[in-house]
Amino acid sequence: MKFIHMTDTHLLRDGEWFLGFDTQSRFERCVQSIKENHSDAHCIIVTGDIAERGEPEAYRYFHEQMATLGMPFYSIPGNHDLRHNYSSVLPDVWSDPSVFAQQAIKTPAGVFLLLDTLLDNSDAGTLCEHRLQWLSDQLMDFSSEPVFLFMHHPPFDLHMPAIDSIGLVNNEPFLTVIKSHLNIRHLFFGHAHRPVSGHWHGISFSSMSGTNHQAPLDLKGVGNMEVVDNPEYAIVIINDDQLVVHTYSFLDGYR
Ligand SMILES: [Fe+2]
Repeated sequence: MKFIHMTDTHLLRDGEWFLGFDTQSRFERCVQSIKENHSDAHCIIVTGDIAERGEPEAYRYFHEQMATLGMPFYSIPGNHDLRHNYSSVLPDVWSDPSVFAQQAIKTPAGVFLLLDTLLDNSDAGTLCEHRLQWLSDQLMDFSSEPVFLFMHHPPFDLHMPAIDSIGLVNNEPFLTVIKSHLNIRHLFFGHAHRPVSGHWHGISFSSMSGTNHQAPLDLKGVGNMEVVDNPEYAIVIINDDQLVVHTYSFLDGYR
């Protein structure tokens, strides 16, 4: 099964630029690239920071553009999203019967669990007791199937102080919930604005650049805010015995 992972679109209103780039123009090039090259993808998952300022207009535009792809798309909020506007505009049906945008999606490759790490009025993220209980329940329900996790905030340090300082604030309770579930095959996240991969407590993970601006590789925390330019999306291919992630810089044209 093939699906698309997209993240951190940071959309603004028509014609508005952010950190040197027209957010809608870049997003549309990303959508066009997926349309031209990956119309056979099963679905698209977008891991947060959909709208830079959380405006309803940005969510409506996001939904309109994504609908042109003709395949199912699902999203979770990031720290830039405003919960009320996000939930009011995007018509996803949450599996979690609460205000939280969490859902379990059954796919041919297994179950995708989308987690809502939005902590209102903070750039850091959290999974409160309610959200963790929902996750625990889902992991019990789907204990015999491959499970893939999606969240905006990484639940561990990336050794990038600027990102680590606004990561998931309660890593340990999250780890406690997931660590005994050996059927978790991969963790996808956003927030980093950089391609990054590895494994954590035996769970492989990946992320990549957003569709607008990227973060510099600052491992020393010197506060280098220079914006580097490498917008990407990822193509993920899952088989019974393998998961492959290709990140693709869509401004380059298809190769
Ligand atoms: Fe972001």
